[in-house]
Amino acid sequence: FINLLKRSSGITPQLAIGGSEKSHVCFTTDSSLKSEAYQLAVTPEQIQVKASDIKGFFYALQTIRLLLPSAVEGNQQAKNIRWSIPAVTIQDEPRFGYRALMLDAARFFIPKENVLRIIDCMGMLKINTLHFHLTDDNGWRLEIKKYPRLTEVGAWAGPDHNRLGGFYTQEDIKELIAYGQVRNVEIIPEIEFPAHILSAVVAYPWLSCTCLQHEVPTQHFISRDLLCVGKESSLQFLRDVLDETVRLFPSSYINIGGDEAVYTRWEECPDCQKVMKREGLKKASELQGYLTNVVAEMMKEKNRTVVGWEEIFLRGDVKTPVVGLIWHNVRDTLLATQRGHKAILTPATHMYFDFPESRTPGEVKAATWMPPISLEKCYSMEINDYSPESTVLGVQGCFWSDQFIHGTVLQEIDYLNENRSENYAEYFTFPRLLALSEVAWCRQSDRNYSDFRRRLSHHFNRLDFKNCHYRVPEPIIEQMNPTATGAIEFTLSPAVADADIRY
Ligand code: ACM
Ligand code: ZN
Repeated sequence: FINLLKRSSGITPQLAIGGSEKSHVCFTTDSSLKSEAYQLAVTPEQIQVKASDIKGFFYALQTIRLLLPSAVEGNQQAKNIRWSIPAVTIQDEPRFGYRALMLDAARFFIPKENVLRIIDCMGMLKINTLHFHLTDDNGWRLEIKKYPRLTEVGAWAGPDHNRLGGFYTQEDIKELIAYGQVRNVEIIPEIEFPAHILSAVVAYPWLSCTCLQHEVPTQHFISRDLLCVGKESSLQFLRDVLDETVRLFPSSYINIGGDEAVYTRWEECPDCQKVMKREGLKKASELQGYLTNVVAEMMKEKNRTVVGWEEIFLRGDVKTPVVGLIWHNVRDTLLATQRGHKAILTPATHMYFDFPESRTPGEVKAATWMPPISLEKCYSMEINDYSPESTVLGVQGCFWSDQFIHGTVLQEIDYLNENRSENYAEYFTFPRLLALSEVAWCRQSDRNYSDFRRRLSHHFNRLDFKNCHYRVPEPIIEQMNPTATGAIEFTLSPAVADADIRY
């Protein structure tokens, strides 16, 4: 915070422990407050901040940051700015402890610089978890020292001379984790199995039931290949990869994916069939539950909890408590409770940021299996806690990039047709991430869409300083009248204060 203020305002606050009552800003520990909660009392004389932990103090500072003129985000000293904030009294705490964004860096490799920028914005918006989707059919993005071909081979698609893709070295990951820690953003890695694992199978064909050699796909593709549960070598692979992952990531949760497995390969594999017989399993889907149990136990020994897509507790009989990301039916939170698990809400109807916001011509190519998710729809997501014991840990937005495969043309309007997928990733994520922030932080009764919309330009000014490529909501059509000549006359107003309308 001091760095931020110094850079943009030239003011250099001095930090002292045990400072006097006369300090301009005074931080006091108040252990009666919950984790992440804070109190802020601003008078003309002093700013008083109270919290019980560093997270609470961090969020108090983010609120001060958001109350300051947006120029505080600038990289250079701003001129003619009055560096003041309003005199306010604020008592604030999040509704949910888990407030997350998922980035799919597997289908489309998101350069480290873009991930850093998104983490920075997440911290400012009080979103505390980055679910990092690191592996999928189209690419393996995490360096694993014991299996170098995962990134030598599995991170790249297309012919050698023109290959596309990329990966994060373990040093990159350490840098991202440290950057997140300063901003109260914890990174949870996702190592996906038993499906969505083709990039690993390309690197090591013995991982699958068929052992056949494939290529990393260059276009949207969901493979039917599964990790073979019947071969000791593939289970050892899982152990080794998760071992390295756990050593790298300090997060208490480890995400194991688990979605969308089609079980044909297991049904046809003699090795997998042997395991089913041994374990007394009737359906191949129960084999997924078996595997989830094995891994959840493995992680428990390392003091980590398994989280994954809802399928991890819906398939088979999973005894070890896990956390399921509910992406279809929010009522499945009830099933989670009944079975002794917890849930996170990320319904595709409201929180999938790979859907377009509108059907307006000129929108970037995006997912189509659901209707568009407007900013208002995202902001208005209802959260009923379906269980008496607060099964719901929190809310998550998901930016899937399966439409963003390297080299795919994302724009059908020629003159907009640049290859700038990293920027489009931000276009899909913002401003819906702002909506998610309030959905996850505020009580339902405190949410008001018109008020939120009124405050958007306040945030856009800040995102501009960060070079973030957010989407500007389209203008509102106030009137639409036929004229005598047969033309139609439109009256438009900007949806965001101060926005220009171009046509
Ligand atoms: C998912 O959207 N397949 C979790
Ligand atoms: Zn098999």
